[in-house]
Amino acid sequence: MKIFHLSVFLNLFVVVLELCTASGVAATTQNLPKKSAKSLPPEGLLSTDHYHRTCSEAEGIISQVVSAWVKKDSTLAAAIIRLHFHDCAVRGCDASILLNYPGSERSAFESRTLRGFQVIDDIKGQIEKKCPRTVSCADILTAAARDATILAGGPFWEVPFGRKDGKVSIAREANLVPHGHENITGLLQFFQERGLDILDLVTLSGSHTIGRSTCSSFMDRLYNFNGTGKPDPSLNIFYLKMLKKRCKRELDLVHLDVITPRTFDTTYYTNLHKKVGLLSTDQSLFSDARTAPFVEAFASQPFLFTSQFATSMVKLGNVQVLTRPNEGEIRVNCNFVNGV
Ligand code: HEM
Ligand SMILES: *[C@@H]1O[C@H](CO)[C@@H](O)[C@H](O)[C@H]1NC(C)=O
Ligand SMILES: *[C@@H]1O[C@H](CO)[C@@H](O)[C@H](O)[C@H]1NC(C)=O
Repeated sequence: MKIFHLSVFLNLFVVVLELCTASGVAATTQNLPKKSAKSLPPEGLLSTDHYHRTCSEAEGIISQVVSAWVKKDSTLAAAIIRLHFHDCAVRGCDASILLNYPGSERSAFESRTLRGFQVIDDIKGQIEKKCPRTVSCADILTAAARDATILAGGPFWEVPFGRKDGKVSIAREANLVPHGHENITGLLQFFQERGLDILDLVTLSGSHTIGRSTCSSFMDRLYNFNGTGKPDPSLNIFYLKMLKKRCKRELDLVHLDVITPRTFDTTYYTNLHKKVGLLSTDQSLFSDARTAPFVEAFASQPFLFTSQFATSMVKLGNVQVLTRPNEGEIRVNCNFVNGV
């Protein structure tokens, strides 16, 4: 019990701390003279009013188009959020995942279940008509992920803008994104390399409160878990039975949150207590002593989760962004680098 209270306290403390740092950076960016820009970290050049003068319609267009697509197909909300993660995970949030040609990240085997590209293309087409060559694909994807979160019932947050689009995308780098078989040490290392911490790991994994997985991503847990000849012992036996029935083929789909698959809530965390986390990485957050206190805190305090989710998503969107004048470009078509 003591440990639990301590964790809640710690957690609140971290949330407050992160909120302070976030607003601190925003404030400095606005008040600083241009000369000091050089000493700022790249994400320090992002700002929420970046397009206010050059394309004030941008955010409105993005939210309208996302909302129209999600109304037609509600599964697109999760797909767009995941697409943003896969973008930021490789070469930072630079829209490298959107480049569409043989040998690009998007063409890799690991990217085969990514969806939602047509939504971003639709947004880009409409924005180009209003403000040509002004709004980057990386910014569009970041704002679309925020809007998709809201449509699924999640929190709102202000998106800082000003990312540029990268010119490089390499198929084998798609393999860097975690697959669902990693241990917590591996996941933490992956997050830390991108400036994200243990709290961000537990918080952002909460995206798995919506969306689906193909059976291929957890099949190893069902029959012969890491060579033991038995299923993963951290799987609830009824859930195991259900999964065996559902998974006839590798590409069959299963909800990541078995209880409330379409609602952005904290059931993802309470599921872990019941041993019904779908991916091995999900269930590990509960069993590892480094992450378990945060799972506890979110499972019992939904508000803590939603406010931290907003904070961690801003951090995810800031990963290795291209913001200097000589870096990247504003792509005209999200599928291709300009001028080829
Ligand atoms: C912590 C490491 C993570 C691992 C190991 C992981 C792994 C996975 C896997 C294996 C799938 C299913 C893919 C498939 O088989 O079709 C998936 C789906 C998904 N992931 Fe993650 N993920 C991680 C982090 C994240 C983060 C940080 C986000 C967003 C901020 C995210 C958002 C999603 C969403 C929304 C889906 C559902 C996609 C859909 O329904 O189309 N994941 N993830
Ligand atoms: C966890 O994964 C890392 C690589 O990411 C590996 O070096 C380590 O041996 C793994 N630990 C365990 C206990 O399996
Ligand atoms: C296999 O699973 C067991 C039980 O969960 C775990 O302790 C062990 O580290 C795993 N081995 C490997 C090589 O991942």
